[in-house]
Amino acid sequence: MVETLSIADNRTGRSSDVPIEDGAIRATALKELGLVSYDPAFLNTASVKSAITYIDGDAGILRYRGYPIEQLAEESTYLETAYLLLNGELPTEDELRAWTGEITYHTFLHENLKRLMEGFRYDAHPMGMLISAAAALSTFYPEAANVDDAESRDAQIVRLIAKVPTIAAFSYRHSRGLPYVYPDNDLGFAENFLSMMFRMAEPRYNAEPALVKALEVLFILHADHEQNCSANVMRSIGSSKADPYSALAGAAAALYGPLHGGANEAVLRMLAEIGDVARVPEFIARVKGGEGRLMGFGHRVYKNYDPRAKIIKRVADEVFEVTGRNRLLDIALELEKIALEDEYFVSRKLYPNVDFYSGIIYQALGLPVAMFPVMFAIPRTAGWLAQWVEGVQDAEQKIARPRQLYTGASEREYVPVALRQAVTAPLVATR
Ligand code: CMC
Repeated sequence: MVETLSIADNRTGRSSDVPIEDGAIRATALKELGLVSYDPAFLNTASVKSAITYIDGDAGILRYRGYPIEQLAEESTYLETAYLLLNGELPTEDELRAWTGEITYHTFLHENLKRLMEGFRYDAHPMGMLISAAAALSTFYPEAANVDDAESRDAQIVRLIAKVPTIAAFSYRHSRGLPYVYPDNDLGFAENFLSMMFRMAEPRYNAEPALVKALEVLFILHADHEQNCSANVMRSIGSSKADPYSALAGAAAALYGPLHGGANEAVLRMLAEIGDVARVPEFIARVKGGEGRLMGFGHRVYKNYDPRAKIIKRVADEVFEVTGRNRLLDIALELEKIALEDEYFVSRKLYPNVDFYSGIIYQALGLPVAMFPVMFAIPRTAGWLAQWVEGVQDAEQKIARPRQLYTGASEREYVPVALRQAVTAPLVATR
């Protein structure tokens, strides 16, 4: 069978047989016909070949390196999953011990970075602090600029996975006006994070095991999600050969938006605004009328229940057994029930996504809403780095540089200022 796509340009009568490879055609093949492909927001464009994460959005399937997310959530730990994402295989016992040791060793921050964080206003959003601190890290490790050096890359990967939780916790302590708590290297990854967040005068923070387990599962579920908005930014910045700290700061900035990692924060604000189960139908009617979106619902890729949302719902039950039930859960359950039966949501294949329940859990853990996107960024660090390192090593990687369809004015003569007449309202109002 000939694996080609025949394209005929009916305006000119020119045609071309374009090879089909891995179910795709190369957009550059269109050059022969004098065409470009136009795909704002990459709705049907693969930007890379990747062996990291597999999603079947129609079937609701998510796998890291071939392993179903359900099995990883049940059996694995976040650090083991991070190793898998970065190295392609699950670690042996020795490899896991060495990896865990490396990460644990690098959890501390340079005191000057701590001082930089102390310089933020008392009410600084922790995500802004995280983004800034991640970018600032590149000034502490200038050798990170050697992105073609495998040894240097490995060192920065370890540092970032180890230090992002410390930065995240410091940003929280800052917002509370509390002293920053240094890492406790005798604790596991999630336990240490909880200690840096919540320890007060006690010599050692004893986290509730069920909450540690819940956090590990949340971290696993958020570790990667193939070519999402922030991963695309990470790869795009990485394609210019910028260091991984700068690239990660950019990726975190992309995650901050309410349509991406900021959605869990937006969900909580939405649930609080609804305020009561009785007001759910009225809220759904407003969304259907075009007044805002049902946050935590819908996904670019999943046109089925997000598999992560299913697991999170179970985790929520386990957390609430320890913390007591969050009243917002009842509103969320009612919203989900009504939306899943409503023609508007059904016909658009809008299902709960990972963020619909994660915020309720974070709140139960005692976190303020501003910390929610930060909670997403901590585990996604592993995914960003896996995507970045795969990109840097990809023989096909070139600097990301999309084409455009120019819609502006054609060539015109410069007019001296005294002869100009106002055509449109100025972009910057003069006083
Ligand atoms: N509530 C109401 N209507 C919606 C929603 C929603 N949450 N999401 C999509 N729609 C409608 C949208 O108005 C459009 O309707 P129509 O065809 O009548 O114009 C249709 O569904 C398709 O929407 P779209 O905007 O073309 O879909 P998209 O693939 O560009 O957007 C999305 C995906 C996740 C940005 C969007 O579903 C959304 O804004 N959801 C709410 C925010 C959210 O929960 N984001 C978290 C995503 S999961 C975590 C992550 O990856 O960060």
